[in-house]
Amino acid sequence: MSARNLPIFLCLFIVAISSCNQQTAETPAPTLNAVIPLPLDVVASSDVFTFDTNAAIVTSGGAEATRIATMFADMIQPATGFKLIVSESADTSKAGTISLALTGNEGTLGAEGYELNITKDKIFLIAAKPAGLFYGIQTIRQLLPHSIESSKKQNNSWTIATGKIVDKPEYGVRGSMLDVARHFFSLEDVKRYIDFLAFYKMNTFHWHLSDDQGWRIEIKSWPKLTSTGGSTQVGGGKGGFYTQEQYKELIKYASDRFITVIPEIDMPGHTNAALASYPELNCNDSATKLYSGTEVGFSSLCTNKDITYKFIDDVIRELAELTPGAYLHIGGDESHATKKEDYIPFVNKVQAIVKKHNKLVIGWDEIALSTLTPNSVAQYWADSANSVNAVKQGAKIMMSPAAKAYLDMQYDSTSKLGLHWAAYIEVDQAYNWNPETLVKGISKENIYGIEAPLWSETVTNMNDIEWLVFPRLPGYAEIGWTPSGKRNWDEYKTRLANHGARLTAMDIDFYKSKRVEWKGE
Ligand code: ACM
Repeated sequence: MSARNLPIFLCLFIVAISSCNQQTAETPAPTLNAVIPLPLDVVASSDVFTFDTNAAIVTSGGAEATRIATMFADMIQPATGFKLIVSESADTSKAGTISLALTGNEGTLGAEGYELNITKDKIFLIAAKPAGLFYGIQTIRQLLPHSIESSKKQNNSWTIATGKIVDKPEYGVRGSMLDVARHFFSLEDVKRYIDFLAFYKMNTFHWHLSDDQGWRIEIKSWPKLTSTGGSTQVGGGKGGFYTQEQYKELIKYASDRFITVIPEIDMPGHTNAALASYPELNCNDSATKLYSGTEVGFSSLCTNKDITYKFIDDVIRELAELTPGAYLHIGGDESHATKKEDYIPFVNKVQAIVKKHNKLVIGWDEIALSTLTPNSVAQYWADSANSVNAVKQGAKIMMSPAAKAYLDMQYDSTSKLGLHWAAYIEVDQAYNWNPETLVKGISKENIYGIEAPLWSETVTNMNDIEWLVFPRLPGYAEIGWTPSGKRNWDEYKTRLANHGARLTAMDIDFYKSKRVEWKGE
């Protein structure tokens, strides 16, 4: 052991009975048992690595490794004050080296896995693909003292427990949805939401871009969608929309963090904002009034007019051109104002339009009433029969059961924000379910991914978002990442309790559930 590490090593042994001068009183001793989502395989050894100004990052395997290393160096700079040098080199001989290597060979790690070896004087991170390196970096971030998340320089000793982590996800698609239609959120807010997903190794962002109360994405061939349809929101505020340039900026921001964006244009219901913008989309050729309430199920595109399909073709074409991901979300939920005999051919026609523009369809579970095209995904939110019907048609299921996974459900009857039509969802209830066994007829091989949606009827700003999303989001991330046999609420709640101080350091205003004994507050 080097003299440099000796005090911290001793600190590991005495931290339980006294405070150590190397660390602030609230900083727990370094441990590998701090990561959310729980890694697949962790073997601790009893030492520490210390980041200091001499630490340097070397990368091998290409420009993406260097980009990811630079993101890490930039991320830890404010709290540490260190400007770590990043260089492309396979030379890992110098003590203090943090090495990031891309092997290109998926082997058993797969496209998102990584292996992290921490010894007392070096850190080795290897992955087959860049996403794995990025996730390994998120793990290192969570292994550092929580004050690493601070935006101001901290007087701290930047130690990490030693050991080996071999990690990869259980599900290939792990995500969350943000409804920007009921209330509009700025691009900066959406980026912060993306940061949350990235921090928990989630890789999919579902962007709910249109609804009765607002149309939020510029469509150049139908400009009134945003100039009229984007001009309000729930409660009558001024709403807003994203230009196509802003949309592309968000796609790039997400993709830099290995997150695929799935944009949603909800139809044929949830379309009042479009119906208020263009009279011809209504069966009676008369525009509706803009709507700023919170009822659902009252609007419908006119399903037997040619102009409706011209409109959809234009919207899907422009969106497909802007969107690199394979899937476009066509909504399809709660179309109570559309007759079933009109709904089914409508969804069939929309699927054909999406296919024509070289994209695949995802829609809420009701779309299974139609004939699903190959590779379609149905999103289970309410109706298990619809979802099982989708499976019978060969579709995969995005698991978003409202009573378990809706981030806008209140925690309990005293919650200041949220709704409770599906359930009250406390933090343990959010964590304690298994996507593989929840619905008879949907098993692991039928599941496309896990997604926790946040609807925004009651959510007006970033603080509101954070209060509903945290602390439930980390649990949903763990459901998607960690095999169900390794998940256990009693163990998780201890990790989450320690994680609370990290959320505080990230300036996240989270719900202090009484079911968790929060530490370091
Ligand atoms: C939904 O919650 N209407 C999908």
